[in-house]
Amino acid sequence: MQAIGDAPGKTPGSSNLCLESIAAILSFWLTNWTIHMRDKLPSIQKPFIRRLLLMLLGAAGIALTARSFAEDSDSAKPDDAAKIAAQVCSNCHGPGGASTSPIFPVLAGQHQLYLAAQLHAFKDRTRSDPEAHNYMWTMATLVSDSMIDALANYYANQPTVAGQPGTVQEIARGKALYEKGIPERGIMACSNCHGSNAEGHWVFPRLAGQRAQYVFRQLQVIQGQLRKSPVMHGIVKDLKPNEMEDLGTFLQSLP
Ligand code: HEC
Ligand code: HEC
Repeated sequence: MQAIGDAPGKTPGSSNLCLESIAAILSFWLTNWTIHMRDKLPSIQKPFIRRLLLMLLGAAGIALTARSFAEDSDSAKPDDAAKIAAQVCSNCHGPGGASTSPIFPVLAGQHQLYLAAQLHAFKDRTRSDPEAHNYMWTMATLVSDSMIDALANYYANQPTVAGQPGTVQEIARGKALYEKGIPERGIMACSNCHGSNAEGHWVFPRLAGQRAQYVFRQLQVIQGQLRKSPVMHGIVKDLKPNEMEDLGTFLQSLP
Protein backbone atom coordinates (compact mmCIF):
# COMPACT_ATOMS: atom_id res chain seq x y z
CA MET A 1 0.00 0.00 0.00
CA GLN A 2 1.13 3.54 -0.71
CA ALA A 3 2.36 5.29 2.43
CA ILE A 4 1.39 8.88 3.17
CA GLY A 5 4.41 10.90 2.15
CA ASP A 6 5.68 8.63 -0.59
CA ALA A 7 5.91 10.20 -3.99
CA PRO A 8 3.15 8.67 -6.09
CA GLY A 9 5.18 9.22 -9.23
CA LYS A 10 2.46 11.01 -11.20
CA THR A 11 2.70 14.30 -13.01
CA PRO A 12 0.43 17.10 -11.79
CA GLY A 13 -2.71 17.54 -13.81
CA SER A 14 -6.49 17.66 -13.81
CA SER A 15 -6.81 14.11 -12.51
CA ASN A 16 -5.08 15.28 -9.34
CA LEU A 17 -7.47 18.20 -8.99
CA CYS A 18 -10.35 15.79 -9.33
CA LEU A 19 -8.68 13.54 -6.76
CA GLU A 20 -8.42 16.52 -4.40
CA SER A 21 -12.14 17.29 -4.67
CA ILE A 22 -13.07 13.66 -4.02
CA ALA A 23 -10.63 13.60 -1.12
CA ALA A 24 -12.11 16.76 0.38
CA ILE A 25 -15.63 15.29 0.29
CA LEU A 26 -14.40 11.95 1.60
CA SER A 27 -12.47 13.63 4.37
CA PHE A 28 -15.47 15.74 5.45
CA TRP A 29 -17.67 12.67 5.57
CA LEU A 30 -15.02 10.63 7.37
CA THR A 31 -14.49 13.33 9.97
CA ASN A 32 -18.17 13.30 10.87
CA TRP A 33 -18.27 9.55 10.82
CA THR A 34 -15.19 9.25 13.04
CA ILE A 35 -16.75 11.51 15.64
CA HIS A 36 -20.02 9.65 15.41
CA MET A 37 -18.36 6.23 15.73
CA ARG A 38 -16.06 7.40 18.48
CA ASP A 39 -19.07 8.36 20.60
CA LYS A 40 -20.82 5.12 19.77
CA LEU A 41 -17.83 2.97 20.65
CA PRO A 42 -16.29 4.46 23.78
CA SER A 43 -14.49 1.25 24.71
CA ILE A 44 -12.35 -0.80 22.38
CA GLN A 45 -14.80 -3.52 21.56
CA LYS A 46 -14.95 -3.36 17.82
CA PRO A 47 -11.36 -3.23 16.65
CA PHE A 48 -12.32 -4.30 13.18
CA ILE A 49 -14.47 -1.23 12.63
CA ARG A 50 -11.74 0.97 14.05
CA ARG A 51 -9.13 -0.51 11.78
CA LEU A 52 -11.37 -0.09 8.79
CA LEU A 53 -11.93 3.51 9.80
CA LEU A 54 -8.21 4.10 10.06
CA MET A 55 -7.64 2.58 6.65
CA LEU A 56 -10.18 5.00 5.22
CA LEU A 57 -8.69 7.93 7.08
CA GLY A 58 -5.29 6.96 5.79
CA ALA A 59 -6.64 6.77 2.26
CA ALA A 60 -8.10 10.27 2.60
CA GLY A 61 -4.72 11.50 3.76
CA ILE A 62 -2.97 9.98 0.76
CA ALA A 63 -5.45 11.48 -1.66
CA LEU A 64 -5.25 14.90 -0.04
CA THR A 65 -1.52 15.07 -0.39
CA ALA A 66 -1.30 13.29 -3.71
CA ARG A 67 -1.13 16.56 -5.64
CA SER A 68 1.60 18.19 -3.62
CA PHE A 69 3.66 15.01 -3.62
CA ALA A 70 3.20 14.51 -7.29
CA GLU A 71 5.27 17.60 -7.91
CA ASP A 72 8.35 16.64 -6.01
CA SER A 73 10.56 13.81 -4.94
CA ASP A 74 10.65 11.58 -1.93
CA SER A 75 10.93 13.84 1.10
CA ALA A 76 7.89 15.11 3.00
CA LYS A 77 7.54 18.90 3.27
CA PRO A 78 6.35 20.89 6.32
CA ASP A 79 3.19 21.99 4.47
CA ASP A 80 2.31 18.40 3.68
CA ALA A 81 2.74 17.44 7.33
CA ALA A 82 0.51 20.33 8.41
CA LYS A 83 -2.12 19.12 5.93
CA ILE A 84 -2.04 15.52 7.18
CA ALA A 85 -2.14 16.77 10.77
CA ALA A 86 -5.20 18.91 10.05
CA GLN A 87 -7.06 16.40 7.89
CA VAL A 88 -6.26 13.13 9.64
CA CYS A 89 -4.54 13.36 13.03
CA SER A 90 -6.65 16.23 14.39
CA ASN A 91 -9.76 14.01 14.33
CA CYS A 92 -8.43 12.44 17.51
CA HIS A 93 -5.50 14.56 18.74
CA GLY A 94 -7.24 17.92 18.30
CA PRO A 95 -6.19 20.93 16.20
CA GLY A 96 -2.42 21.39 16.41
CA GLY A 97 -2.28 18.32 18.68
CA ALA A 98 -4.00 20.16 21.56
CA SER A 99 -6.20 17.22 22.56
CA THR A 100 -9.09 17.92 24.89
CA SER A 101 -10.19 14.29 25.03
CA PRO A 102 -9.05 12.18 28.00
CA ILE A 103 -8.13 9.22 25.80
CA PHE A 104 -6.11 10.97 23.11
CA PRO A 105 -2.69 12.29 24.12
CA VAL A 106 -1.67 15.91 23.63
CA LEU A 107 0.99 16.11 20.91
CA ALA A 108 1.34 19.91 20.87
CA GLY A 109 4.81 21.01 21.99
CA GLN A 110 5.99 17.42 22.51
CA HIS A 111 9.66 16.82 21.64
CA GLN A 112 10.44 15.93 18.06
CA LEU A 113 12.74 12.96 18.71
CA TYR A 114 10.28 11.46 21.18
CA LEU A 115 7.35 11.84 18.77
CA ALA A 116 9.29 10.27 15.91
CA ALA A 117 10.40 7.40 18.18
CA GLN A 118 6.78 6.70 19.16
CA LEU A 119 5.53 6.70 15.57
CA HIS A 120 8.29 4.21 14.74
CA ALA A 121 7.31 2.15 17.80
CA PHE A 122 3.72 1.95 16.49
CA LYS A 123 4.99 1.10 13.03
CA ASP A 124 7.32 -1.60 14.41
CA ARG A 125 4.55 -2.71 16.79
CA THR A 126 6.78 -2.59 19.87
CA ARG A 127 4.18 -0.31 21.44
CA SER A 128 1.44 -2.86 21.68
CA ASP A 129 -1.24 -1.95 24.21
CA PRO A 130 -4.83 -2.30 22.93
CA GLU A 131 -5.21 1.43 22.21
CA ALA A 132 -1.95 1.55 20.30
CA HIS A 133 -3.07 -1.47 18.33
CA ASN A 134 -6.58 -0.24 17.58
CA TYR A 135 -5.86 3.40 16.87
CA MET A 136 -2.25 3.90 15.86
CA TRP A 137 -0.80 0.77 14.22
CA THR A 138 -2.49 1.17 10.88
CA MET A 139 -2.13 4.93 11.05
CA ALA A 140 1.65 4.68 11.52
CA THR A 141 2.00 2.03 8.80
CA LEU A 142 0.44 4.46 6.34
CA VAL A 143 2.94 7.20 7.12
CA SER A 144 6.34 7.12 5.38
CA ASP A 145 9.55 7.61 7.39
CA SER A 146 10.12 11.09 6.00
CA MET A 147 6.52 12.02 6.86
CA ILE A 148 7.12 10.76 10.42
CA ASP A 149 9.95 13.28 10.75
CA ALA A 150 7.88 16.06 9.21
CA LEU A 151 4.88 15.34 11.47
CA ALA A 152 7.12 15.15 14.55
CA ASN A 153 8.62 18.50 13.59
CA TYR A 154 5.15 19.98 13.05
CA TYR A 155 3.83 18.94 16.47
CA ALA A 156 7.05 19.91 18.30
CA ASN A 157 6.51 23.45 17.02
CA GLN A 158 2.87 23.83 18.10
CA PRO A 159 2.09 25.86 21.23
CA THR A 160 1.77 23.79 24.41
CA VAL A 161 -1.61 23.46 26.14
CA ALA A 162 -2.70 25.19 29.35
CA GLY A 163 -2.82 23.22 32.61
CA GLN A 164 -6.18 22.04 33.96
CA PRO A 165 -7.33 22.28 37.54
CA GLY A 166 -7.81 19.11 39.59
CA THR A 167 -8.35 17.87 43.15
CA VAL A 168 -5.99 19.81 45.41
CA GLN A 169 -4.95 16.78 47.49
CA GLU A 170 -4.23 14.64 44.43
CA ILE A 171 -2.14 17.40 42.91
CA ALA A 172 -0.14 17.82 46.15
CA ARG A 173 0.53 14.07 46.43
CA GLY A 174 1.40 13.81 42.74
CA LYS A 175 3.78 16.76 42.99
CA ALA A 176 5.61 15.26 45.99
CA LEU A 177 6.00 11.92 44.22
CA TYR A 178 7.10 13.61 40.99
CA GLU A 179 9.73 15.74 42.69
CA LYS A 180 11.05 13.36 45.34
CA GLY A 181 10.12 9.85 44.24
CA ILE A 182 9.70 7.29 47.03
CA PRO A 183 13.29 6.50 48.09
CA GLU A 184 12.29 3.79 50.61
CA ARG A 185 10.61 1.86 47.79
CA GLY A 186 13.37 2.57 45.30
CA ILE A 187 11.17 4.85 43.12
CA MET A 188 13.28 7.57 41.53
CA ALA A 189 12.04 11.16 41.24
CA CYS A 190 10.40 11.67 37.87
CA SER A 191 11.91 15.15 37.62
CA ASN A 192 15.37 13.57 37.16
CA CYS A 193 14.48 12.73 33.58
CA HIS A 194 11.29 14.62 32.72
CA GLY A 195 12.55 17.97 34.09
CA SER A 196 11.57 20.03 37.12
CA ASN A 197 8.54 21.46 35.29
CA ALA A 198 7.81 18.23 33.42
CA GLU A 199 8.94 20.02 30.28
CA GLY A 200 10.89 16.98 29.05
CA HIS A 201 13.88 17.03 26.78
CA TRP A 202 15.14 15.07 23.76
CA VAL A 203 13.67 11.52 24.03
CA PHE A 204 12.30 12.19 27.52
CA PRO A 205 8.70 13.18 26.86
CA ARG A 206 7.12 16.40 28.01
CA LEU A 207 4.44 15.45 30.57
CA ALA A 208 3.19 18.93 31.56
CA GLY A 209 -0.43 19.40 30.48
CA GLN A 210 -0.75 15.79 29.31
CA ARG A 211 -4.23 14.22 29.80
CA ALA A 212 -4.47 12.66 33.28
CA GLN A 213 -6.29 9.57 32.05
CA TYR A 214 -3.74 9.01 29.31
CA VAL A 215 -0.84 9.33 31.78
CA PHE A 216 -2.55 6.87 34.12
CA ARG A 217 -3.08 4.39 31.31
CA GLN A 218 0.48 4.69 30.00
CA LEU A 219 1.94 4.08 33.46
CA GLN A 220 -0.09 0.87 33.61
CA VAL A 221 0.86 -0.09 30.07
CA ILE A 222 4.57 0.47 30.82
CA GLN A 223 4.24 -1.44 34.10
CA GLY A 224 2.61 -4.30 32.18
CA GLN A 225 5.51 -4.23 29.68
CA LEU A 226 3.21 -3.63 26.71
CA ARG A 227 5.42 -0.77 25.72
CA LYS A 228 9.16 -1.18 25.26
CA SER A 229 10.51 1.51 27.61
CA PRO A 230 13.50 -0.11 29.35
CA VAL A 231 14.32 3.07 31.25
CA MET A 232 10.78 3.43 32.65
CA HIS A 233 10.10 -0.23 33.49
CA GLY A 234 12.26 -0.29 36.62
CA ILE A 235 10.89 3.03 37.83
CA VAL A 236 7.17 2.28 37.58
CA LYS A 237 7.20 -1.41 38.45
CA ASP A 238 6.05 -0.83 42.05
CA LEU A 239 3.83 2.21 41.51
CA LYS A 240 0.30 1.71 42.85
CA PRO A 241 -2.81 2.68 40.88
CA ASN A 242 -3.71 5.50 43.28
CA GLU A 243 -0.18 6.92 42.93
CA MET A 244 -0.51 6.80 39.14
CA GLU A 245 -3.77 8.70 39.43
CA ASP A 246 -2.16 11.39 41.62
CA LEU A 247 0.67 11.74 39.10
CA GLY A 248 -1.81 12.10 36.23
CA THR A 249 -3.82 14.81 37.99
CA PHE A 250 -0.65 16.69 38.95
CA LEU A 251 0.86 16.51 35.44
CA GLN A 252 -2.37 17.61 33.75
CA SER A 253 -2.46 20.66 36.02
CA LEU A 254 0.93 21.94 34.78
CA PRO A 255 1.09 24.53 31.99
C1 HEC B 1 -8.64 7.46 15.47
C2 HEC B 1 -7.91 8.24 16.45
C3 HEC B 1 -6.48 8.63 16.15
C4 HEC B 1 -5.99 9.20 14.99
C5 HEC B 1 -6.74 9.58 13.72
C6 HEC B 1 -4.57 9.43 15.23
N1 HEC B 1 -4.22 9.02 16.49
FE1 HEC B 1 -2.38 9.13 17.35
N2 HEC B 1 -3.07 8.21 19.02
C7 HEC B 1 -4.37 7.80 19.23
C8 HEC B 1 -4.45 7.10 20.52
C9 HEC B 1 -5.68 6.48 21.15
C10 HEC B 1 -3.15 7.13 21.07
C11 HEC B 1 -2.68 6.50 22.38
C12 HEC B 1 -2.14 5.11 22.05
C13 HEC B 1 -1.76 4.32 23.27
O1 HEC B 1 -2.49 4.37 24.25
O2 HEC B 1 -0.72 3.65 23.23
C14 HEC B 1 -2.30 7.85 20.10
C15 HEC B 1 -0.95 8.09 20.29
C16 HEC B 1 -0.16 8.81 19.44
C17 HEC B 1 1.22 9.17 19.70
C18 HEC B 1 2.03 8.87 20.95
C19 HEC B 1 1.93 10.05 21.90
C20 HEC B 1 2.76 9.94 23.14
O3 HEC B 1 2.68 10.85 23.98
O4 HEC B 1 3.46 8.95 23.31
C21 HEC B 1 1.66 9.87 18.62
C22 HEC B 1 3.04 10.46 18.40
C23 HEC B 1 0.55 9.96 17.67
N3 HEC B 1 -0.55 9.30 18.21
C24 HEC B 1 0.62 10.61 16.46
C25 HEC B 1 -0.43 10.63 15.53
C26 HEC B 1 -0.32 11.20 14.20
C27 HEC B 1 0.93 11.88 13.65
C28 HEC B 1 -1.52 11.00 13.58
C29 HEC B 1 -1.90 11.34 12.15
C30 HEC B 1 -1.07 10.75 11.11
C31 HEC B 1 -2.39 10.32 14.53
N4 HEC B 1 -1.69 10.10 15.70
C32 HEC B 1 -3.71 9.98 14.29
C33 HEC B 1 -5.43 8.00 18.37
C34 HEC B 1 -5.35 8.53 17.08
C1 HEC C 1 15.62 7.55 34.18
C2 HEC C 1 14.76 8.44 33.42
C3 HEC C 1 13.28 8.46 33.73
C4 HEC C 1 12.67 8.60 34.96
C5 HEC C 1 13.34 8.77 36.32
C6 HEC C 1 11.25 8.62 34.70
N1 HEC C 1 10.99 8.50 33.36
FE1 HEC C 1 9.17 8.51 32.48
N2 HEC C 1 10.03 8.18 30.65
C7 HEC C 1 11.39 8.10 30.43
C8 HEC C 1 11.59 7.81 29.02
C9 HEC C 1 12.94 7.64 28.31
C10 HEC C 1 10.32 7.70 28.42
C11 HEC C 1 9.99 7.37 26.96
C12 HEC C 1 9.75 5.90 26.86
C13 HEC C 1 9.49 5.43 25.45
O1 HEC C 1 10.20 5.85 24.55
O2 HEC C 1 8.56 4.63 25.28
C14 HEC C 1 9.36 7.95 29.49
C15 HEC C 1 7.97 7.93 29.29
C16 HEC C 1 7.05 8.25 30.27
C17 HEC C 1 5.63 8.35 30.05
C18 HEC C 1 4.88 8.16 28.74
C19 HEC C 1 4.61 9.52 28.14
C20 HEC C 1 3.72 9.49 26.92
O3 HEC C 1 3.49 10.57 26.34
O4 HEC C 1 3.24 8.43 26.51
C21 HEC C 1 5.06 8.71 31.25
C22 HEC C 1 3.59 8.94 31.53
C23 HEC C 1 6.14 8.82 32.21
N3 HEC C 1 7.35 8.53 31.58
C24 HEC C 1 5.96 9.15 33.53
C25 HEC C 1 6.97 9.09 34.49
C26 HEC C 1 6.73 9.25 35.91
C27 HEC C 1 5.39 9.53 36.53
C28 HEC C 1 7.94 9.09 36.53
C29 HEC C 1 8.24 9.09 38.03
C30 HEC C 1 7.52 8.11 38.83
C31 HEC C 1 8.93 8.88 35.49
N4 HEC C 1 8.30 8.87 34.26
C32 HEC C 1 10.29 8.72 35.69
C33 HEC C 1 12.38 8.28 31.35
C34 HEC C 1 12.21 8.40 32.72
